Amino acid sequence: MGQKILFDKIHIPGIKTYDVYRENGGYASVEKALKMNPDDITEEVKTSGLRGRGGAGFPVGLKWSFIDKKSGNPRHLVCNADESEPGTFKDRYLMEYIPHLLIEGMITSSFALGANLSYIYIRGEYMWIFKTLERAIKEAYAAGWLGKNIKGSGYDLDLHVHCGGGAYICGEETALIESLEGKRGNPRIKPPFPAVKGLWQNPTVVNNVESIASVPWIVLNSGEDYAKIGLGRSTGTKLFSVSGHVKKPGVYEIEMGITVDEFMNSDEYCGGMIDDRPLKGLIPGGSSVPILPQHLIFKTANGEDRLMTYESLADGGFATGSSLGSGGFIVYNDTACIVRNTWNFSRFYHHESCGQCSPCREGTGWMEKILWRIENGQGTEEDIDVLWSVQAKIEGNTICPLGDAAAWPVAAAIRHFRDEFEYHIRFPEKIKNRDHFVNEPFEKVKHLLNSVTI
Ligand SMILES: Cc1cc2nc3c(=O)[nH]c(=O)nc-3n(C[C@H](O)[C@H](O)[C@H](O)COP(=O)(O)O)c2cc1C
Ligand code: SF4
Repeated sequence: MGQKILFDKIHIPGIKTYDVYRENGGYASVEKALKMNPDDITEEVKTSGLRGRGGAGFPVGLKWSFIDKKSGNPRHLVCNADESEPGTFKDRYLMEYIPHLLIEGMITSSFALGANLSYIYIRGEYMWIFKTLERAIKEAYAAGWLGKNIKGSGYDLDLHVHCGGGAYICGEETALIESLEGKRGNPRIKPPFPAVKGLWQNPTVVNNVESIASVPWIVLNSGEDYAKIGLGRSTGTKLFSVSGHVKKPGVYEIEMGITVDEFMNSDEYCGGMIDDRPLKGLIPGGSSVPILPQHLIFKTANGEDRLMTYESLADGGFATGSSLGSGGFIVYNDTACIVRNTWNFSRFYHHESCGQCSPCREGTGWMEKILWRIENGQGTEEDIDVLWSVQAKIEGNTICPLGDAAAWPVAAAIRHFRDEFEYHIRFPEKIKNRDHFVNEPFEKVKHLLNSVTI
């Protein structure tokens, strides 16, 4: 069984409560950190190779080292618990079942950054977890881990949990900051980056829940020990939230470096395909990253084993690879309709676009409309090219990466499943029923494409 560093205590009865958490070694990293030089903690995190778990995989220690300590302005740590990416629900699990681990990570990390006022920004739909966190924060204050002069160290920290209104864009770090300031969640133009001008124009680090929850283990053990887990630049363990057509969907902690095959098919993790139906596609990192077709899931285009690492999942670039993203692992069997799925994602991105830049505001709407047309038997052959051209014009031309996130799934679906789009266009009568491939999987009917030409 792989090593667990985030979930190792999650099954202890009562671990949600302060007393049980503390009895099981909780808050020991704070005790240790308060006796350390804050910059040495940042160095440990750098040595660990921990990369941000929110999606971009930027090294956490390096990000911390950018925080402006010279300006003399107050500094802040903001935990991004917005978790609104379709397919991603790992942070929810951590916060719901072991909330004190995140609070411990917030204190240790805030101390390293010299922050005296920190926040957890959580999506509005996680109201019950908001309450869980509020309760846990109250317990931490009562036990003297938060507030003034923590455990006699002279260090002060106030921690608040703030509930968002339920907008995906508020997960983008600068939109999140705007929202936390009480404004509309519109992403800011960067630079300046939050490390220089973030919350209330003060130096701010924004990190994902899982990133922050990994810090206590690193501080208690060492950056070097953390770096020994995993493979190459993909160090440590990683949470994946698994949904779709597998026998055992759920949230799993893995040591990075195991094969995709082992993750999907072993009893320890996903347990193989539900009803043993054929695998059709995989999105390894949430709705924003490219879908992989069956032949590129277990092996890369070079014929090497595809591994659960940042590098291997991205191997081949977007032509034949994907991305680890936010760890939202979505599995599709042969009954799934890729056109319908892509339309559904586009509908989401169109709805969630903040509307500041025209390529994203207009482009996401165009993609949604065209995909709806194709999925509903009203598409034309030309539509596929228009769709390709619209997504290509969004990518790289927007203020924030939501535009890219909307474009990539469309590009990948066309790249790998173009024949399925063509089938929708040429055989509208066959796709009238919304469950068209449930009754008749595409593999069984795709031969029709050879018999009819336009
Ligand atoms: C549209 C959009 C939504 C995002 N949503 C989240 C989110 O829910 N949680 C998260 O941690 N990061 C999210 N991010 C990434 C954040 O901007 C930021 O990179 C991240 O919180 C940094 O934390 P990390 O370095 O620990 O990964 C999102 C980015 C974009 C563009
Ligand atoms: S890319 Fe989209 S979500 Fe991001 S700032 Fe532009 S319009 Fe808003």
